[in-house]
Amino acid sequence: MSIQEEIRQLAKAKNAVIMAHYYCENEVQDVADVIGDSLALAQKAAQTDADIIVMCGVHFMAETAAILCPNKKVLIPDATAGCSLADSCSAQELAQFKQQHPQTLVISYVNTSADVKALSDVVVTSSNALKIVHQMPQDAELLFGPDANLGAYINKQTHRQMMLWHGGCHVHGRFSAQQLMAIKAQYPQAPVLAHPECGKDILDLSDVIGSTQALLSYVQQHPEIPAFVIATEPGVIHKMQQAHPKAQLIAVPYVDENGMVRCNQCEYMRQNTLVKLRDCLRNEAPQVTVDADVAQKALVPIQRMLSLS
Ligand code: 13P
Ligand code: SF4
Repeated sequence: MSIQEEIRQLAKAKNAVIMAHYYCENEVQDVADVIGDSLALAQKAAQTDADIIVMCGVHFMAETAAILCPNKKVLIPDATAGCSLADSCSAQELAQFKQQHPQTLVISYVNTSADVKALSDVVVTSSNALKIVHQMPQDAELLFGPDANLGAYINKQTHRQMMLWHGGCHVHGRFSAQQLMAIKAQYPQAPVLAHPECGKDILDLSDVIGSTQALLSYVQQHPEIPAFVIATEPGVIHKMQQAHPKAQLIAVPYVDENGMVRCNQCEYMRQNTLVKLRDCLRNEAPQVTVDADVAQKALVPIQRMLSLS
């Protein structure tokens, strides 16, 4: 039996749903029941009637599922799959900020720990941040965190002046604008599709800015365009290629400290391997749980997001 068959058999026998983010390895995406961006994964987790949710993603995604589904077992193939963006805001720092700014509404990106969500007024993802910030009272003082790039982009789009947390994603923050300009010179007709976690230098060179799902949908909806330049984690190219088989999909790289041009993968997402997925289904571990009090508090801003989006 192939490992894929073994995984599917285990999932069926245990009534488990396998969810995967677009940044996972192609083979992990191919074996999953649900593939999506952060918002879709949270929405699908909230709706599932499976007994077990296996979240092939990073830790905060499994935590979000555990908060939304307190009576389900939430597993993650590798419990050490973290997120540099989530790590850029600790609950302690945010609590301190709130003490100093008691009137400020805290808008937290979904890429945060459950403890940070528990201190937030509303959670957003890159899919709904714009829509949700538009719905915030005009006279309210707002903090957006932890992604300063996404926050600055939303400020520009909404003409708000939200305070921005100083966090960021190491993957989206390191794309090379110089490499992107060279690609644009080579493919002048190809639209540049960028995730809003990218820096302003990359976003200013881009034609379409959106969540992983929005960028995938753009490729899907434009069969007449022969080439696209992709400025987000290249895992998303797998589904783009399936949606538009003839498209040339060019991934923007980064330049490492030794001057080497490299493929810009998120090493945390790539920790989800087929072997770890199989073993996690077999052993029903590692399980991700959230302290009941924290989960109860974090559920409020997550549910607010689901109803506003
Ligand atoms: P999406 O919400 O667009 O899936 O992004 C999640 C993420 O981690 C981007 O780096
Ligand atoms: Fe976190 Fe960045 Fe990886 Fe997304 S790409 S999971 S924000 S480290």
